[in-house]
Amino acid sequence: MNKLFSGKTAIITGASSGIGRAAALALARSGAAVVIHARRKERLDELASEIIANGGKALSVTGDAGVQADIDALLDCALAWNDGGCKYDIVVVNAGRGLAGGVLSSDESQWEKLYQINVFGAAHLMRRAAQYLVKRQIGDIVAISSVVGRNISPFSGFYGSSKFAVSAIAEGLRREVCSHGVRISVVMPGIVVSEFQGVAGYTEENFGKGVAQFGKLLEPQAIADGIHWLLTLPPHVNVNEIMIRPTGQSYP
Ligand SMILES: NC(=O)c1ccc[n+]([C@@H]2O[C@H](COP(=O)([O-])OP(=O)(O)OC[C@H]3O[C@@H](n4cnc5c(N)ncnc54)[C@H](OP(=O)(O)O)[C@@H]3O)[C@@H](O)[C@H]2O)c1
Repeated sequence: MNKLFSGKTAIITGASSGIGRAAALALARSGAAVVIHARRKERLDELASEIIANGGKALSVTGDAGVQADIDALLDCALAWNDGGCKYDIVVVNAGRGLAGGVLSSDESQWEKLYQINVFGAAHLMRRAAQYLVKRQIGDIVAISSVVGRNISPFSGFYGSSKFAVSAIAEGLRREVCSHGVRISVVMPGIVVSEFQGVAGYTEENFGKGVAQFGKLLEPQAIADGIHWLLTLPPHVNVNEIMIRPTGQSYP
């Protein structure tokens, strides 16, 4: 049966958990062959098995999203994958991590690592994917930024700065490649409950109390739905950015 994304191959980084996992499932359900990437092999293999058991196509590739050679290997694997037709059409640049605290209170020993993944890794992936898609004169790059990549917060100022960079790099790239038929979209999630909070070091004290007033927070599916939607639009329509918050999230 022909589905919305039949014949397309989507690469999704950070697919072992949260938003990336939900996005991989959503795109696969609509017929995309998905190349899923993260460091945790078991998680990826489980997800690939689930997708394949439901009639989809999936290839898991392990690697570090902050290491250029691993990103290059991911793209090479996608191009060498016969099931995917030896090409890729969609790249969801999602792998990333948070860091609790502002410029004063966050752990400075984590700053470089955070930029390595969130900024340099994301930028390298966007650049390499765009070089390829420009040659094909079609394709999509979806970069996952954050609401704090638009509205900086004193509670996550350093992390937020990395997401300002993601949004800026994606928009700069959009202006370079849009005349070649390549769409670039920035997705800015509000608070999504995932493994993100644990990795970032959020606690009841520095996070839980503050967000209690926001009511029901987002599940990763809400962001996956947004990603899926913008990819369904006709090729001449590019939703450049989309911000998805829990309804009750008044800040930031
Ligand atoms: N959750 C939120 O409230 C929220 C809000 C705004 C934006 N975001 C952004 O959304 C994206 C996804 O977050 P999430 O909420 O889904 O978090 P999550 O559940 O913690 O998932 C993060 C994913 O990134 C992967 N990852 C992290 N570091 C990596 C590395 N060095 N190399 C390869 N993969 C790496 C993880 O896989 P492995 O650990 O297996 O490598 C995991 O699959 C991130 O860019 C985050 O900044 C999240």
